[in-house]
Amino acid sequence: MQKLSTRHLLGIKDLTPEDIELIMATATEFKEVINRPIKKVPSLRDVTIANVFFENSTRTRLSFELAEKRLSADTLSFSAAGSSVKKGETLLDTVNNILAMKVDMIVMRHASPGAPHYLSKHISANIVNAGDGTHEHPTQALLDSFSMREKLGDLAGKKIAIIGDILHSRVALSNIFALKKQGAEVMLCGPSTLIPRHITELGVKVCHDVKKALAWCDVANVLRIQLERQQIKYFPSLREYSLYYGINKKMLDELDKEIVLMHPGPINRGVELTSDAADSHHSIILDQVENGVAVRMAVLYLLAAQN
Ligand code: CP
Repeated sequence: MQKLSTRHLLGIKDLTPEDIELIMATATEFKEVINRPIKKVPSLRDVTIANVFFENSTRTRLSFELAEKRLSADTLSFSAAGSSVKKGETLLDTVNNILAMKVDMIVMRHASPGAPHYLSKHISANIVNAGDGTHEHPTQALLDSFSMREKLGDLAGKKIAIIGDILHSRVALSNIFALKKQGAEVMLCGPSTLIPRHITELGVKVCHDVKKALAWCDVANVLRIQLERQQIKYFPSLREYSLYYGINKKMLDELDKEIVLMHPGPINRGVELTSDAADSHHSIILDQVENGVAVRMAVLYLLAAQN
């Protein structure tokens, strides 16, 4: 059996192009499995996985839970709200107590960038980063790539625009790493206050005109304005952001080409996307969610095989 080069999934930055190909191929097999009448396989029957979420989540959490069930793993769920974290217990003590219950793998979302990397230096269980602050969200980028490949085939030479709040987005950084490793061209688009300085050092283009970005790309991956992470004002008002960077169906229909519209969710309808765009034939937003289960099954299966 082919193996990953790593025993944790901390970020896309650490993956080789061969790792990404292996995850894509394995996810393709699991997508076939979850479309059968009997959607379950016994692959992780002897594995126990804890989903440890210190931040809110709908898609990622449910998708991991379902992926684990489809693989026949035993699972337990932890939310910081209502836990002994509120009494001052540390991250490492919390995780070590979970591991004492004979848990093999930790899927963790945390508000602090680097939290899963820190854990990986102190515990022996496999760790999957389910989003660490503004840093990385590797499984989102993998499911985004999988969804793009379903529509476009090989991503080498394909043009992907990532539009929105790049500065606060872990999805943007993981997508940049994933897309560059697959040979795609990447353009970032948004107000200059929401584009990190020196980001072009990662080999991406920057554009501040959303119409030009849409005219350039094969795929527009639109990101949410993350007001909860913004301590200062980066633009005058949401109304003005929407006026200059919001995307509606008419803008997509008027392009003289096919375009694929993506969004990792949750969508701020009427801010970065109008409902008529989000729900249009250009959109593969719900395909992304569907593919998340198969991609996470692949990641969990391949990491468990490392032990
Ligand atoms: N895309 C994503 O990470 O969504 P959730 O925050 O709902 O998990």
